[in-house]
Amino acid sequence: MNTLQYWHPVIQSKKLGRKPVCIKLCGQEIVLFRGEQNSIGALKNSCPHRGMRLSEGWIKDNRLVCPYHGWSYDCDGKGFSPSTPQLHVCAQRFDIVERYGAIWIKSFDSQAEFPQLDFSSYEYICTLEHHVDAPLGVDKYLSMEHGAPYLKISCAS
Ligand code: FES
Repeated sequence: MNTLQYWHPVIQSKKLGRKPVCIKLCGQEIVLFRGEQNSIGALKNSCPHRGMRLSEGWIKDNRLVCPYHGWSYDCDGKGFSPSTPQLHVCAQRFDIVERYGAIWIKSFDSQAEFPQLDFSSYEYICTLEHHVDAPLGVDKYLSMEHGAPYLKISCAS
């Protein structure tokens, strides 16, 4: 089973600022970044050029810049090499959504629908984060505790 085909809340929105963030999900390192127009991207944390961790880079002109040789990637993973602009390169990307105070990702090729967490009899209060080392198979996005729903944010391996 490919657990990355489903949506996973991986980080609270407020924790993704101007610096790229590395998360680990299903044994894969993924870099999350926020562009200058508040667009967000999720790419495999390995530069297609020589494998440098993209999370060590920075944001410039709405692109994630690799610190090794300066290739850069937009939120869709489209790459640009300053020394060979005619080169067409793509970083592996993930679908990404910011909702309910969290950043959610899934595999780009998955058709999974985003979970609907709107309940007419409840009011969203906040997003809480707890780290739990648990297999993804037991992960539940929504828990009912103390009579109120809350999102469970997890970055289990
Ligand atoms: S390893 Fe990223 S630009 Fe060379």
